[in-house]
Amino acid sequence: MSTMKKNTQRHTEKNMFLDESVDIQRFDILKYPDIDKITDRQLGFFWRPEEVDVSKDKKDFRELTANEQHIFTANLKRQILLDSIQGRAPNLAFLPISSLPEIETWVSTWSFFETIHSRSYTHIIRNVYADPSFVFDQMLDIKEILDCGNDIAHYYDDLISHNNNQEYNNYRHKKALWLALHSANALEGIRFYISFACSWAFAELKKMEGNAKIIKLIARDENVHLAGTISIIRNLLKEDPDYIKIEKECADEVLHLFVNVIEQEKNWAEYLFKDGSMIGLNQNLICDYIEWIGTKRMRVLGIHSPYKVSLTNPLPWTEKWISGSAVQVAPQETEITSYITGGVNQDVSTETLSKLSL
Ligand SMILES: [Fe+2]
Ligand SMILES: [Fe+2]
Repeated sequence: MSTMKKNTQRHTEKNMFLDESVDIQRFDILKYPDIDKITDRQLGFFWRPEEVDVSKDKKDFRELTANEQHIFTANLKRQILLDSIQGRAPNLAFLPISSLPEIETWVSTWSFFETIHSRSYTHIIRNVYADPSFVFDQMLDIKEILDCGNDIAHYYDDLISHNNNQEYNNYRHKKALWLALHSANALEGIRFYISFACSWAFAELKKMEGNAKIIKLIARDENVHLAGTISIIRNLLKEDPDYIKIEKECADEVLHLFVNVIEQEKNWAEYLFKDGSMIGLNQNLICDYIEWIGTKRMRVLGIHSPYKVSLTNPLPWTEKWISGSAVQVAPQETEITSYITGGVNQDVSTETLSKLSL
């Protein structure tokens, strides 16, 4: 990849990935306007953690039981790790092989918003804990968190090594991209939602509401990221017949990837609730939710879920926290409640703002 090399192909004739790298960032004529709309959507959601007052959370935290404090802190620690990986991985893995302006810009925008999430955790921690370092310093001592991080990194690392491989095999490279995109989808669409449910469970009890407001803003972004992965996966199948073959060849591995995420999330729930549950949330309920949301994400991608799940959300109260997280692409398949107009989100000033009292 070079920073400037005049393309031999017209930009609208190139594939999303693994063709000549972008020469000119142009958005007048796009091969995938829908992907550019996802970027627009995300940019319209710009926010800063300092806009949310979390000062009351400090008092709330002191009044939580030891068990509730464990749930809150462990959940936060794990989410910090998830966003730390996601803040750099798309840039490292997808960006170097992007070959369209709308893909390059989307990946950069995606990664950038993950860095806002990471900064928001420090904002929360500074306000809630007397010693912020206590949260960060011991994070990776928790085996369950480390295992989760290693599992997520695995598919990204594999793609990165293909990106840098001298003995080049284009087909295997595409397979690595396919798997990394599914891994990103499971992270954005399953793992994060488990963390969100735990944060909102506190707010349902009128505790830690500043944190829950920040998580609501994060969820709005993750939902856009989820739509981004779905859109890219679907467009790959349309633009290059190799991916139709790859979809079949990798079907077992993709299923294994999702089942692995779901089972690891259930193990995580066991750790989270090891000392007992809290009002409104326990290990069984969150495990039902994990299988339910995991199945929902798999079905959108045409993957048959081995889990038998209820038709309705086992944690229905999570939905009001997610509402407003609108995405134009595949709305019924993410968590849509409204549509984009004019490139800027319109629901920020209504439902979201009234809840956030920014
Ligand atoms: Fe994030
Ligand atoms: Fe994300």
